Amino acid sequence: MTAADAESVSRLVTSGLDRREARWLVEEFGSDDAALRTASERRLAGEPLQYVIGHWPFRSLDLDVDARVLIPRPETEELVTHALEELSRNDRATPLILDLGCGTGAIGLSLAEELMARGVRASVVAVDVSPDALTVARANARKHSLLAVSFVQSDWFDSLDPSLRGRIDLIVANPPYVGAEEFSILDPVLRFEPLGALVADDDRGVAGFRDVAHIIAASSAWLSDAGALIVEHGEGQGAAALSLARESGFADVEDHIDLAGHPRVLVARRG
Ligand SMILES: C[S@@+](CC[C@H](N)C(=O)[O-])C[C@H]1O[C@@H](n2cnc3c(N)ncnc32)[C@H](O)[C@@H]1O
Repeated sequence: MTAADAESVSRLVTSGLDRREARWLVEEFGSDDAALRTASERRLAGEPLQYVIGHWPFRSLDLDVDARVLIPRPETEELVTHALEELSRNDRATPLILDLGCGTGAIGLSLAEELMARGVRASVVAVDVSPDALTVARANARKHSLLAVSFVQSDWFDSLDPSLRGRIDLIVANPPYVGAEEFSILDPVLRFEPLGALVADDDRGVAGFRDVAHIIAASSAWLSDAGALIVEHGEGQGAAALSLARESGFADVEDHIDLAGHPRVLVARRG
């Protein structure tokens, strides 16, 4: 770091920024004082650092992020690990993958990138109901030259090409799963993110379970005989997710714990 950069960091710290964040902003905006000032004002007003910087790492990808999309979370990186394990069990040379609620494209783009690095030519269909999210996800696919990813605006499965029925090897999803009541008491910084990416209606007496439940119940019909569903869910939703997966015709179901030790990722296999 140059002396001028160190001076900029000190100035930002004096204005109230955390030192580590001040360093990040200086690394990002360098000696552009106007950009640095705007960025620090946004951060001091409470906006998430990821939006202020405008891009953030997720596994091996640097993803563009802004207020149109959820900031990808570290626990979702674990979902990708489970997905890769699942695909290596199936050992398909050209798997067909559906990413439901793609947001930035974090899950589907990571899978496309990491499978390509292993010599696997996956096709990924990335779905979101939000046209804004799809714009960001498409830009992230272009940024990383991930051409085997296609994008569909759809309310979950509603607008998917019907010819995909029964052919998908893996469905991955990180849908909204926070109940409205819980959302009202969570960290206010979440209010900068799109509400529709976080909050879901209650279902079966479980807060925020509506979208997770819909995906579990509807997935079987779209999966191939040996296909699997991997879905992230809320902390209090594990038991309901497991029993709904069994009811929905999945032969083998398990719920994996996240980095904090809570069951958060349902893996449901058809065969
Ligand atoms: C929790 S975010 C996940 C984003 C990204 N997959 C990730 O893990 O960072 C949920 C995403 O689901 C999308 N979504 C919400 N309701 C949907 C629906 N009915 N159909 C399709 N996508 C939906 C939101 O727009 C949002 O991008």
